[in-house]
Amino acid sequence: MDTLLREAAARAETYLAGLGERDVGPSAAALAALSELATPFPDRGEGAPDILAKLDRLGSPATIASAGPRYFGFVTGGSLPVALAANWLAGAWDQNAFSTTSSPLGAALEMACLSWLREIFGFPEAAGGAFVTGATMANFTALAAARHAVLAQTGWDVEQDGLFGAPPITVLVGGEGHAAMLKAVRMLGLGEGRVHRLAVDGQGAIRADALPPIKGPTILCLQAGNVNSGAFDPAANLIPAARDAGAWVHVDGAFGIWAKAAPARADLAAGYELADSLAVDGHKWLNVPYDSGLTLVRDPGSLHAAMSISAAYLPDAEAREPYDYTPECSRRMRAVEIWAALASLGRVGLADLIETCCRHAAMMGQGLAAAGYEVLNDVRLNQVLVSFGSDDLTERIIADVQADGTAWCGGTRWHGRAAMRISFSSHATRDADVAKTLDAILRLAGANSSS
Ligand SMILES: Cc1ncc(COP(=O)(O)O)c(C=O)c1O
Repeated sequence: MDTLLREAAARAETYLAGLGERDVGPSAAALAALSELATPFPDRGEGAPDILAKLDRLGSPATIASAGPRYFGFVTGGSLPVALAANWLAGAWDQNAFSTTSSPLGAALEMACLSWLREIFGFPEAAGGAFVTGATMANFTALAAARHAVLAQTGWDVEQDGLFGAPPITVLVGGEGHAAMLKAVRMLGLGEGRVHRLAVDGQGAIRADALPPIKGPTILCLQAGNVNSGAFDPAANLIPAARDAGAWVHVDGAFGIWAKAAPARADLAAGYELADSLAVDGHKWLNVPYDSGLTLVRDPGSLHAAMSISAAYLPDAEAREPYDYTPECSRRMRAVEIWAALASLGRVGLADLIETCCRHAAMMGQGLAAAGYEVLNDVRLNQVLVSFGSDDLTERIIADVQADGTAWCGGTRWHGRAAMRISFSSHATRDADVAKTLDAILRLAGANSSS
């Protein structure tokens, strides 16, 4: 075992050390070699060192170098060294974070993290929380609590009686709400087709005057950080108005809500602390390894009602039982990397991580605009959207940047147009990486424009 783990560590170290130099995307040859993984199921297994060597030989070159300094696709954080190291240790521990009995350590880490996270996002000390796989499941978990609460107000017990015959729930989502939010709505039986989409402004944020009159059970879903533009819905206006009218206000803050942790950006996220529930990712901007998401719910009772299985296990348990707050029962101990990341960053380091990414986005936006290209969003957070002219040209340049290997930027559609989306979400990116990426983009854009 010890030789094997040392070998794994050595291979991982070599991999990480090479990330800054290699092409960010895998080569066609590396991808083709993956076919070697699909052998017939062997009668007898291979030795562990051979398996590790094979995984490294085939796997490492075929990875997207998203842990490195110049991956700007989707919204993808790297892994802070301490979070990765904690993840390795936790792998050895192999705890089942299901309950306080199956892992007292897991339960204690969750409590410690919840306290820090409530403080960071301005939620009350009593708020409940759940550690899940990502923002999609965090939205799902929070909306299950919302579904419980708005129906309980009408005297309907959704956990016992389901949705058949229940009073209808109005779900309000911004016109630019993330697809993962709508997926959570679908999974909860609330019906994507029944969602009312609210009018948005040019940056994709819900307009302050877009809230319809609220009647009956209603869930308003806001977004802190549009996946394309980084825009925030006007929480300080919308949340008090909706809550006063009896609605549950949920916030999909997958990455953007971390702006609250950076004093210079916190005004963007003002007012979100008034929400009933919040979904946020750890694996995006907190830079912990996949997979990691979190739900916070102001009223822990609603979350408990939606997720609890206590009756089946320990009906009179006094401690917070993790299984009463999450969709899963058995699960890995996700809080460990969040705890390690927050403990190592502290308030100052966290603010610096967020601020540096925003500063890098501003550098990129200014560089592209100075070169005459059209930056499509107000770059106030970590996202940059750029068009190079026609859709065709923009898509060609995105493909060329990905093939070039210096950096990796993805494509998206913004208000009917093709755009390159450049997301700054990693601790590993330095100013020099931003400059190198800008040079590569301008070189490839120039070559395409003149061809
Ligand atoms: C606003 C928003 N919500 C939800 C998601 C989905 O997050 P996850 O992939 O972690 O489930 C994303 C992903 O980019 C997002 O930007």
